[in-house]
Amino acid sequence: MTTVIGTDLSEAARILRGGGLVAIPTETVYGLAANAYDAEAVLRIFEAKRRPAFDPLIVHVADRAQLNDVVRAVPPEAEALMDRFWPGPLTLALPKSARIPDLVTSGLDTVGVRMPAHPLAQELLRALPFPLAAPSANPFGYVSPTTAQHVADQLGDQVPYILDGGPCTVGVESTILGWEGGACVLYRPGGVPVEAIEAVIGRVGGPSRQVLPVTPGMLASHYAPRTAVIVGDATALLKAHAHQRIAVISFHQRFQAMDNEVLSPGGDLHEAARGLFAALRKADASGAELIVAEVFPDEGLGRAINDRLRRAAAARG
Ligand code: TXA
Ligand code: MG
Repeated sequence: MTTVIGTDLSEAARILRGGGLVAIPTETVYGLAANAYDAEAVLRIFEAKRRPAFDPLIVHVADRAQLNDVVRAVPPEAEALMDRFWPGPLTLALPKSARIPDLVTSGLDTVGVRMPAHPLAQELLRALPFPLAAPSANPFGYVSPTTAQHVADQLGDQVPYILDGGPCTVGVESTILGWEGGACVLYRPGGVPVEAIEAVIGRVGGPSRQVLPVTPGMLASHYAPRTAVIVGDATALLKAHAHQRIAVISFHQRFQAMDNEVLSPGGDLHEAARGLFAALRKADASGAELIVAEVFPDEGLGRAINDRLRRAAAARG
């Protein structure tokens, strides 16, 4: 199959109506989308990504009315969070309705739902009579795509159409929250900082041990480039690995190395998040034997950045 990159919404809608796959832009990362009500279409996502069936998908909705077809109940805290952060990079795990096939949720009783903020994704969703199940459009375990070209490079032979919405403006995946015993818990830090969520609903906890790993996004070996990654003090690590070709991923400081991706010279965590995955891809393709990444400030989007870097590093731990 040869893929087409374009901005033709009616072509994208036509393929999706026929049960096919389309890569779609969102504000976080590109997604690999199919009709969320059609188990056969959803199965194609798992095949294209070579994704294990125990990893549930996120369902993208056009509006709150469509949400009511996807979930059975919405806790008051979830209402407040949707009022504040939708459309946007926030996914809520809520009790699923019978319309959502078990394959979408990997048999869980909850479904992850979000309303994306990207204008093309919104327009596409509004043109369709069904919501879209879409994981990030990368082969399972690899770095998520933040441009249409990233998708073409890795899944081009699996997807007939890539809807090009330009580079993603957030750059890391959505924050995922759920409710356990009535209490809100964080499954994945992401595009909405936890501080902003806590400002709306108060303290957010960690998931209980018993349900782990409920979110394979929480699996250690995720978001990983092919090259080994070490996270820590870049100066010390460069010294310790002086004999190797090294690519450094740094926040605002410049380092003497074979390759150095400085994510935000001005020290802005939003800018750093936006460029993170493209930088990991560049470092991975640079010919380096080792990728050294700095530890980012543990606040705001820095938490999501540190989370993704730690998982990239854990892949060969
Ligand atoms: O920003 C995003 O969330 C992007 C864009 C495309 O929307 N999507 C994304 O999907 O990152 P994916 O599949 O790469 O990661 C979704 C994560 C998975 O780790 C999955 O396990 C978790 O969401 N997830 C899905 N449904 C869940 C549920 N009911 N409870 C807990 N975690 C869930
Ligand atoms: Mg993913």
